[in-house]
Parts: sequence; C-alpha cells; structure tokens
Amino acid sequence: MTIDLAALPQDFVWGTATSAYQIEGAVAEDGRSPSIWDTFSHTPGKVDGDDHGDVACDHYHRWREDIALMKELGTNAYRLSIAWPRVVPGGDGPANAKGLDFYDSLIDGLLEAGITPSVTLYHWDLPQVLQDRGGWTERDTAHHLASYATVVAERLGDRVQHWTTLNEPLCSAWIGHLEGRMAPGLTDLTAAVRASYHLLLGHGLATQAIRAAAPGAQVGIVNNLSYIEAATERPEDIAAARRMDGHTNRWWLDPVHGRGFPADMREVYGVELPEQAGDLAVMAQPMDWLGLNYYFPSAIEDDPTGPAPYAAAVRRHGVPRTAMDWEIDAAGIENLLLRLTDEYGARKLYVTENGSAYPDVVRPDGTVDDPERTQYLEQHLAACASAARKGAPLAGYYAWSLLDNFEWAYGYDKRFGLVHVDYKTQRRTVKGSGRRYAEIVREHGGGQRKAA
Ligand code: FCB
Repeated sequence: MTIDLAALPQDFVWGTATSAYQIEGAVAEDGRSPSIWDTFSHTPGKVDGDDHGDVACDHYHRWREDIALMKELGTNAYRLSIAWPRVVPGGDGPANAKGLDFYDSLIDGLLEAGITPSVTLYHWDLPQVLQDRGGWTERDTAHHLASYATVVAERLGDRVQHWTTLNEPLCSAWIGHLEGRMAPGLTDLTAAVRASYHLLLGHGLATQAIRAAAPGAQVGIVNNLSYIEAATERPEDIAAARRMDGHTNRWWLDPVHGRGFPADMREVYGVELPEQAGDLAVMAQPMDWLGLNYYFPSAIEDDPTGPAPYAAAVRRHGVPRTAMDWEIDAAGIENLLLRLTDEYGARKLYVTENGSAYPDVVRPDGTVDDPERTQYLEQHLAACASAARKGAPLAGYYAWSLLDNFEWAYGYDKRFGLVHVDYKTQRRTVKGSGRRYAEIVREHGGGQRKAA
C-alpha cells in the first residue's frame, strides 16, 4: 500500500517503543529490587503459561545489539522506560548507582547512534516495597514518584529532553486495582479510584520535579484512549458508551487539562476522592505534549450487573482481529488524534504506541514474514497522516514494539515486535514489517539521516 505521508512534518519523529519489565530481564542484578510485576507474574495462574520477566529479552545485557537493530530500521527515536526498582530499590530513599549507570550508558549509546531517547518514568513496575505500604492507594506513593523522578532527571536530564511521567495510568488503576488482570491484582473499586487519583497527582508532582531538575525538559503523559461507539441505538447502550468514554478517556484527560474529574463519573463510581486543597492545580501542570497509545476500537453495551462503569464491549462479527482478539480499525487513531486536538486543544501530539500481535513463525530460511502486521502498520500510519492533514499537530510515531517481549498477563505468546525474538537463543530477526517500517521512514525522508 502506498501511504501519503506529505502531511507529516519533515522533522517527524520515527521511533519504536519498549518498556523496562517487558524486555530487560536481569531482575535480581546490580541491586534491583522486586517490582509488583515480579510478584504478580510469579503468582501461579496470573500470567498465561506462568511466564515472567526474569530474563525477557535479556536487554539488560544485549542493549548494544538492540540499538544496532534500531539503526538498521533507520528510526531516529526510541521510547524506553526506566525501572524504578533498579534506580531506587527502596521505593524512596537512596539511589542505586549501578541502576543509574545502566541507563546512563544506554542513553549515551542511543545518542551515539543518532537516536533520540524518550524516557518514561513509570511503566507499571512499582517497587514491591511501596506496594507493601499500600502502593497507589496511598498518597505518599505520588510523592515517592516525584522523588524518583528527581533522581533520574538529575542524572539523565543533561542528555534526555523528552520525558513521560506515566504510561497508561488507566491500566495501573482500572486493570490493576479493579479488574485484577494486572499487578497488583486487586478487584476493589475504592482502591482503584484512589489509585487513579494518586497516579494523576504523581504525574503533576513528577512533572514539577523533572522541570526543576532538567530545565528545558519536554514533559507529557501517555494515555491509552479508546475509540468508543455504542453497540446499538438503544438509549441504555448510548448511555453506557458515554460512561465507558468517561472511564477510559475523560477521567484521564480532564484533570490534567484543568477540568477536574468528570462529575458524571464521580457519581457512577460513588467513591469519595482523597482530595486535598491544591491537588487539582498540581495535576494540571501545563504539558509540552500529549501521548496517545492506540490499539483497537470498541462497541459498548449496557452491563448493569458488571463492574463499574457498568458497560461492556461486545464482540462484533465479521470484523478483522489481531491475535489479541482486538478489533482492527485505523479510523480510531485518526478520530482520537483529532479529538485531542479539537476538544483538548493539544498543541503537540505523539502516537507513543501502536502495533499488533500475530503468531509469527521463523521460516526455514530464517526470515519472518508478517503481512498482517505490515498491513496494520500501513493502515494506521495512513490514518495518522490523514489526521495531520486535518490539523492534528502530530509530531511523531513510535511503533509498539521494537522487540517481541513479555506481554504482561499474556506472557510471551503474544508477539508485537517489528523484530522477532527467539527466547531460547535470544536471537533477533527483523520481520517483514520491520523492513517495511524502515522503507516508510526512508521514503518520508526523516529518520536516521535527519537525527544524526
Ligand atoms: C500497552 C502497554 C504496552 C504493551 C501494549 C501492547 O497497553 O503500554 O506495554 O503491552 O499495550
């Protein structure tokens, strides 16, 4: 498929993304303490195949090879996350020099390769010691996030310009504390609402901390927003779709834009917020950019007996799906980019994750052919370009993911990489989709040559 990328700026950021627990391994090395994901994944029955991140892609030892892969793809940026338990193993308190050294070398390696790092502070791997003290249900955790942000920004801020406070706080709060499918595995609405509040407070405090330690830092937050439609025209389903929109989109966007928490959703949850004077202003620190992670759309119906927000996704028939069973519809990414532009006045947007899982196989000749992932990539890039043509200030795109990796509760079975990983040998193989991405980046004229 030919994609018209003319609407994307010449200095467009072409990247790939990963996160610490999903790729690093080396969980007990150089002073790292356990995170809630170590605990969760080692609890039998929580993760498919009882997989865990002990070794993952062994990126902690193979990062040089992985930077070489980024160069091979011709990308000019890389979104990574820092493992809080590596850097501040006690959750708060002293920094671990060896943990910081690792990221220091990684950042230098990226810059030498002409690849701009974009650093996420919190991609779900809370130090277990903080969970033992209540984790995100406690206000202190927000302050600990800010102290940890200071440690990282002081060390890396001379070279890193792009910072993300939180990745998908929705997953931490709703999936981790309400649905129980992610660490810490709770199913408690009050805990979930409190966690959501403290996560957003932590975002604001960490934003201030990063800016104080690294003047000129470009700080944003990354949300996985949903493109939601009502499953039918029944008034109950339309109302349910509105609640789901509040739950997945407005609850996360409104407070950071100075609009407070949506009143309709406060009513739906019926949980008192742990509010203190001044919190809302902290949450609403001006942001330099907004990150969108987009994977799939959903059709929503009323679900009065289910958990809050009493709305559920229906399975639409005849719709193409990925191996995650997620529907494919690139119109969702365009819709959300335009919504952030029109409704929230976004001045700079990044697609910080987008990608698809398929059961790839290495062929006898050693290659991996993944036409479905290639098509997903092309369709979604075309939709991004279309949003840009209609006025969305889209500055970059990070493909999820550079590597096949530990896909949280789905374990290693679900492969999202542009690069295949053979977990037995740790052999990396660029897939057909990776080669296609390289070609697109080259054709656009951005990528490596620009960044170098
Ligand atoms: C997102 C996560 C990322 C990855 C993708 C598939 O929700 O941020 O770590 O698991 O989904």
